[in-house]
Order: sequence, then C-alpha cells, then structure tokens
Amino acid sequence: ATERTLSIIKPDATNRNLTGKINAKFEDAGLRIVAQKRIKLSMEQAGKFYEVHKERPFYGELCEFMASAPVVVQVLEGDNAIAKNREVMGATNPANAEPGTIRKEFALSVGENSVHGSDAPETAAQEIAFFFSGLELVG
Ligand code: CMP
Repeated sequence: ATERTLSIIKPDATNRNLTGKINAKFEDAGLRIVAQKRIKLSMEQAGKFYEVHKERPFYGELCEFMASAPVVVQVLEGDNAIAKNREVMGATNPANAEPGTIRKEFALSVGENSVHGSDAPETAAQEIAFFFSGLELVG
C-alpha cells in the first residue's frame, strides 16, 4: 500500500553537503519526496522529537547533535515507504549496514548516522505531524 514516512537528513550529512546524494538514494529506490525543508532544531525541539529515548544514556548527546547544525526534514511517499526507507538507510549502526545503503556509505558512527526514518505507521503519522502541516504535503 502507499505510505508516507518521516525522514531526517542529520547534521553530520548536511555539514558534509550530502543532501543531494542522499535524496538520490531515496528517489532511485522509488520514494517520492512530497515535502521537504531545511531547519535548525533548538535543543527543546530535538528533545521533544526524541522524547521516547529520554531514559537512554545517549539522549543528551543525541539532542545536542541534532541541534548542532541544520537538518533536512522530509516526507517520503511510496509503496511500503516505511520499510523501503529503512532498507535504503541500512542498520542504525553503520558497522552493521549493508553495502549500498546510506548509512554504510555516509554514516560516521551510530550517533552521527546521517539519517533518521520512522519505524512504524503510527510513529510515521506522529513524526510527520511534528514537522509538517497538511498544507505542506504535496503528493
Ligand atoms: P534514529 O533513527 O534517529 O533514532 C534514535 C537515534 O539514537 C538513532 O537513530 C541513533 O543515531 C541514536 N543512537 C542509538 N544508539 C546510540 C548510541 N549508542 N550512542 C549514540 N547515539 C545512539
């Protein structure tokens, strides 16, 4: 079925000017970028977005990193978009990512891992609504 998922190109990737190369990976996989903006998150916004991880030992570091430089937030649409995006991203830890995936090619570490993608339909809907209004979604 056609789905939408929330994707974030993280500071390590925007810093290295990799937005276009990462978007090409999404488009080559058949994912359509139906909304996209480049923003700088505050610590508060990063903390709210990653609230589910607030008890994790890496939460502070994760929020500081996400607020350290601009990110590109985007909505990807396509058949099975959530799973397809996770396939294109590769494993969270680039050491475990398959060849050809974004994280294998570009990620620096488990923290500086270039991209985020929603993990399920419910979180996709929540995460899209966190960054975009309905008017900004142009299928
Ligand atoms: P993401 O998909 O954005 O969701 C939560 C993020 O936490 C994850 O990607 C990683 O970048 C980050 N993360 C997970 N484990 C660690 C860790 N051990 N140290 C630092 N960051 C981590």
